[in-house]
Amino acid sequence: MENAIQQVLLTEEQIADKVKELGSQISRDYAGKNLMMVSVLKGSVVFMADLMRAITVPCQIDFMCVSSYGSGTESSGVVKIIKDLDINLHGLDLLIVEDILDSGKTLHYITKMLSDRGTASIRIATLLDKPERRAAPLTPDYCCFTVPDEFVVGYGLDYDEKFRNLPYIGVLKPEVYTK
Ligand code: PRP
Ligand code: MN
Ligand code: MG
Repeated sequence: MENAIQQVLLTEEQIADKVKELGSQISRDYAGKNLMMVSVLKGSVVFMADLMRAITVPCQIDFMCVSSYGSGTESSGVVKIIKDLDINLHGLDLLIVEDILDSGKTLHYITKMLSDRGTASIRIATLLDKPERRAAPLTPDYCCFTVPDEFVVGYGLDYDEKFRNLPYIGVLKPEVYTK
C-alpha cells in the first residue's frame, strides 16, 4: 500500500493540529445553536471521528452515504444517494462534514437537497479543498487545507475503495491509476 504513494502531502500530526484548531473555532461559532454534524460517507469517516471529538459544544450526529466517483478518478456528476439522513432536520444548524471538495458537484447536490427540509442553517466543513477543479459554485465555510490538483488518498480518501486506512494524506503515484 505504502509503495503506491509518491509523496506524503500532510502528516498525521499536521492533520491532528489543524482538526483541533477547527474544532475550537466551530465550538465558538455554534455556542447556543442546534448543531447537527452530517458526515458524508464514506470519505469523511476519519475526519468526522476526529472533528466531533474536537468540538466542545452539544451536538448531534448523523450519516448519509453518497457516491459520485465510482472507481474512476473523475466525478461522474451523478450523485447517488445510498443512504439518506434518518432524523427530522427542522430547526437544526447543519454542519456537513466532507473529506474533500473537488468539482463541488457532490456538495452542491447535497446542500440543495437538505435545504428543503426546514433547517435553521447549513454550513460546510471540509478537510481538503481543491479549488482548481471547481465546476459547481461552492466555497467551504470551514476548511483545513487547500491542496493542489493531484490525486490524494488516505485519512478516509480512496482510490477505487483502497487507501482509506492510511493515517496521513498522500499523493498517489500516477501509474496506479493510469493502467
Ligand atoms: C468523493 C469525496 C467527496 C466527493 C468530492 O466521494 O469523498 O465526497 O467525491 O468530489 P466532488 O467535489 O467532485 O463532487 P466519492 O464519490 O468518491 O465517494 P466516497 O466518499 O465513498 O469515496
Ligand atoms: Mn465522498
Ligand atoms: Mg471516493
